Amino acid sequence: MEQINWSDLTFGYMPTDYNVRCVCKNGVWGELEVSSSEYINIHMAATCLHYGQEAFEGMKAFRGKDGRVRIFRMRDNAERMQSSSRGIMMAQLPVEKFEEAVLKVVKLNERFVPPYQSGASLYIRPLLIGTSAQVGVKPARDYMFLVFVTPVGPYFKAGFKPTPYAIMRQYDRVAPLGTGTIKVGGNYAASLAAGEKAHEMGYSAVLYLDSKEKKYLDECGPANFFGIRGNSYITPKSDSILPSITNKSLMTLAEEMGMTVERRHILVEELATFDEAGACGTAAVISPVSRIDDIDENKSYVFSKDGEPGKVCLKLYNKLRAIQYGDEPDTHGWITYVD
Ligand code: PLP
Ligand code: COI
Repeated sequence: MEQINWSDLTFGYMPTDYNVRCVCKNGVWGELEVSSSEYINIHMAATCLHYGQEAFEGMKAFRGKDGRVRIFRMRDNAERMQSSSRGIMMAQLPVEKFEEAVLKVVKLNERFVPPYQSGASLYIRPLLIGTSAQVGVKPARDYMFLVFVTPVGPYFKAGFKPTPYAIMRQYDRVAPLGTGTIKVGGNYAASLAAGEKAHEMGYSAVLYLDSKEKKYLDECGPANFFGIRGNSYITPKSDSILPSITNKSLMTLAEEMGMTVERRHILVEELATFDEAGACGTAAVISPVSRIDDIDENKSYVFSKDGEPGKVCLKLYNKLRAIQYGDEPDTHGWITYVD
């Protein structure tokens, strides 16, 4: 096998040996199939191509000091994919089938699970698409689920270093009562223009405000947002953000560390009162925020002047990583072993 330089991995795609697929015809899910092809063969009129009937998930597998491979919160991802499916009228894959497919694909590609302490992990990407030919705007009858894996390093180049984010008030990612709470491709397409502009200007990502009033914080392009004030972990409550499994885990860990967790509307101006801020997600883990520029309002909120993450971000990051890599016991039932 080609030598992989695990510590130099970025968040990119690398081919692995196998992917696992399953099709749903007329509401009936078939058997799991193993494929070594990176391609799928679908009808040119498939609803996923024309009307965006597509949802995906993201989770990670980690190799511990003991060599065992651990998947983090797989069931939560399975349930969220069902919620996405309901949101855009797709067939729901049973949770057990999702879990079976994920375990199978990780096991089949075990040689791609990065070694302990390389800082890398195996990213798991489940995908569900409508495959029936349809020209009228209607849900498909048939669906394809597939899951592939690829080893990854940090999502943001800087890794666990604070980087700047931008509020760009001319762009919305999702509508107030739209698809923000589910993980569908259209949300990401809608974020590309603002995201690329932000990158060109030197920002890691966009911090979106609520699209209705532009008063409250929503979330970052590919991650939820949280702020730390004193002993409080504060994160937006919104009808247009993805319920992040990482954020949910951090809320639990913060509480266990004796912090107060506040999940509520956060006015943009409140950023001035935060000691620390971070973006959190499977890909982002915790990406500390150095500064947020509210570009059109000509305002800046600074959280890190010395280029180092804040104390609380660091503590939460270390705790979460320790559970994921098995350095600390899994007291919440978040880990599934791939043995
Ligand atoms: N918000 C958005 C828009 C995302 O794409 C993601 C990534 O999955 C998250 C938040 C973080 O969610 P999770 O922690 O479940 O990965
Ligand atoms: C994730 O964190 O898993 C994501 O899906 C974010 C991004 C890569 C879309």
